[in-house]
Amino acid sequence: MKAAITVLPGDGIGPEVIVQASACLHGIAERFHHEFTLTEFPFGGAAIDSHADPLPDSTLKACREADAILLGAVGGPKWSVSQAPVRPEQGLLRLRRELGAFANLRPVAVHPALVDASTLKREVIEGVDLVFVRELTGGIYFGEKRRDARSASDLCTYTVAEVERIVRVAAQLARTRRRHLTSIDKSNVLETSRLWREVTERVMAQEFPDITLEHMLVDSAAMHLLRRPRDFDVLVTENMFGDILTDEAAMLAGSLGLLPSASLGHGRHGIYEPVHGSAPDIAGRGIANPYGAILSAAMLLRHSLKLEAEATALEAAVHAAFEAGVRTADMSCAGKSAATTAAAGAAVLSTLRRRG
Ligand code: IPM
Ligand code: MN
Repeated sequence: MKAAITVLPGDGIGPEVIVQASACLHGIAERFHHEFTLTEFPFGGAAIDSHADPLPDSTLKACREADAILLGAVGGPKWSVSQAPVRPEQGLLRLRRELGAFANLRPVAVHPALVDASTLKREVIEGVDLVFVRELTGGIYFGEKRRDARSASDLCTYTVAEVERIVRVAAQLARTRRRHLTSIDKSNVLETSRLWREVTERVMAQEFPDITLEHMLVDSAAMHLLRRPRDFDVLVTENMFGDILTDEAAMLAGSLGLLPSASLGHGRHGIYEPVHGSAPDIAGRGIANPYGAILSAAMLLRHSLKLEAEATALEAAVHAAFEAGVRTADMSCAGKSAATTAAAGAAVLSTLRRRG
């Protein structure tokens, strides 16, 4: 097949991990005889520098026209000074919103070869296989913001329709898995959470009676994720809770650098990005973990291009690299020397080519 992929490397380690993920997409195209065109556009801080806008019109247009978007990371101290007129993160939020990418899928699975990479005990994390479905275009991220000399406020709003559509995405995903859905809210305090819980109850009872539904308060969920993570299958939650809990859940897998994500709307369009940020502290050193970006490319193959065999082949190649012990510094391999970003990418690519 032919596919046009818009690539937004962004800032910090974004470009470094995207080089590897792009190479893997080319590797897949070669092995399975597809024609993928990958075209890079300025985004985030890099675009503030070149276009005075974190999401220039030309970049947004290329995103709208593409079959899928592969994104690195945005942000950094250079653009995050307190009085900055515009921040890189605004470009990311606007892109999600403009493309209607309301459902953010963040799978967390503990690979057997990496059980010792986590700070948590083997008996707690072995066999963990869960997916967060984070609402991505609503809530406190997008509510009205106010600031005066003595106070500040961020408004959190959810509509019934916003809750319905995200719950449907999560429930449909649960249907392809272990049929268990955990909805996370703070309904003992927040009005938006009470609405969230009511709507979730109704949608699940009417449309998904075959899925077990459980509600959990967000503070309790934060604890149970560490106490008994294996019990979770699909978790659905609002924007801010999802942001926080997915960084926490990343530590089950061993490192934030391992986690991929897909941000989907209606239809096939999607934004694929690793969960990690731009990590300015290690940028430019060639040591960033490219696996989260590469696994995001696998999600792109699966969800936007509908190339399931190709997605599975790429994931298998990443798992082969794990099994061969190819670990970047963040995957903590005591005593062993860490692989560079390029070495980790090359390990994945060599498996792809060998099996071709
Ligand atoms: C993420 C990031 C973003 C978010 C930032 C960079 C705006 O942390 O994708 O999790 O908060 O959504
Ligand atoms: Mn985050």
